[in-house]
Amino acid sequence: MTRVLVAGATGYLGGFVARELKARGHFVRALARSPAKLESVKDSLDEVTEAQVTQPGTLEHICSGMDGVFSSIGITRQRDGLTFRDVDYQGNKNLLDAALRAGVGRFVYVSAFNGPRLRHLEIVDAHEAFVDELKASGIEYAVMRPTGYFSDMGEFFEMARNGRIWLIGSGENRVNPIHGADLAVRCADAIEGDLREIDLGGPETLSWNQVAALAFAVLDRPARVTRAPEWLVWAVVRLVRLFNRHQGELLAFFTTMATTDVVAPPTGARTLGAYFQELKGKERA
Ligand SMILES: NC(=O)c1ccc[n+]([C@@H]2O[C@H](COP(=O)([O-])OP(=O)(O)OC[C@H]3O[C@@H](n4cnc5c(N)ncnc54)[C@H](OP(=O)(O)O)[C@@H]3O)[C@@H](O)[C@H]2O)c1
Repeated sequence: MTRVLVAGATGYLGGFVARELKARGHFVRALARSPAKLESVKDSLDEVTEAQVTQPGTLEHICSGMDGVFSSIGITRQRDGLTFRDVDYQGNKNLLDAALRAGVGRFVYVSAFNGPRLRHLEIVDAHEAFVDELKASGIEYAVMRPTGYFSDMGEFFEMARNGRIWLIGSGENRVNPIHGADLAVRCADAIEGDLREIDLGGPETLSWNQVAALAFAVLDRPARVTRAPEWLVWAVVRLVRLFNRHQGELLAFFTTMATTDVVAPPTGARTLGAYFQELKGKERA
């Protein structure tokens, strides 16, 4: 058994990782800034520690007794007025420093597919700047670089529920998105194993047009899709960046993902159709 600190367990991926590690018999300590958000995963946790990765003073003993650290801490939809640099880079760096002080053996971190090639995007650069620190620290490490998560694909399902899906560009670029549970299996393997850099996506490769068609098919509704020209969206990105750099950077990231192929080595078995069926049976998000 390994004792693992999971940072990010209040989020989509981290919750699945906590469950996967617990199912394998590991001891799981969760770090959360809002422990109340751990309700749905609490049965998979042995310990909960309240701490804030952006405040190093709260991390002093966070890693004591731990053999491994897993972190999926990063800004996705959070609007705390913090930058990607503050959280994705510095927050994880503060956690790494605590892990080094405590003599933790292995640190597994989640960046994004094609990270090293996309460093002109602020969100990706913050992730990869942390990866640089991780590699230079001397700790044993693994970097996961997944494609898009099913949780993000859920946004398309919600658009379909609302009657129309908006796509960026032609919709012909392809992605193989991954379910959090399938990704968690490989994250737990990374905690247990010795691989260092792992590119991965889900089992099916779909164009964005196919993702949209699938969402409407599951809802049994006629497909209504509007494609915003890529040049127009980049013009909007430039404008938004002037007024709100953070939102502009997020839009730049999504636009890049929508207009390039994002296809990584496949893993897992969970399909997007099954995920959309699951969402259909639930209340609206
Ligand atoms: N979504 C994708 O398609 C995708 C693809 C590739 C890589 N990634 C990366 O994978 C990682 C995990 O993604 P996810 O979808 O699981 O994200 P998520 O559901 O938003 O979870 C992110 C975690 O980071 C924590 N966090 C965010 N801002 C924080 C702050 N200011 N201080 C402390 N903790 C903070 C969250 O805590 P709270 O719950 O308290 O906010 C949460 O536990 C992210 O770094 C993301 O960039 C995502």
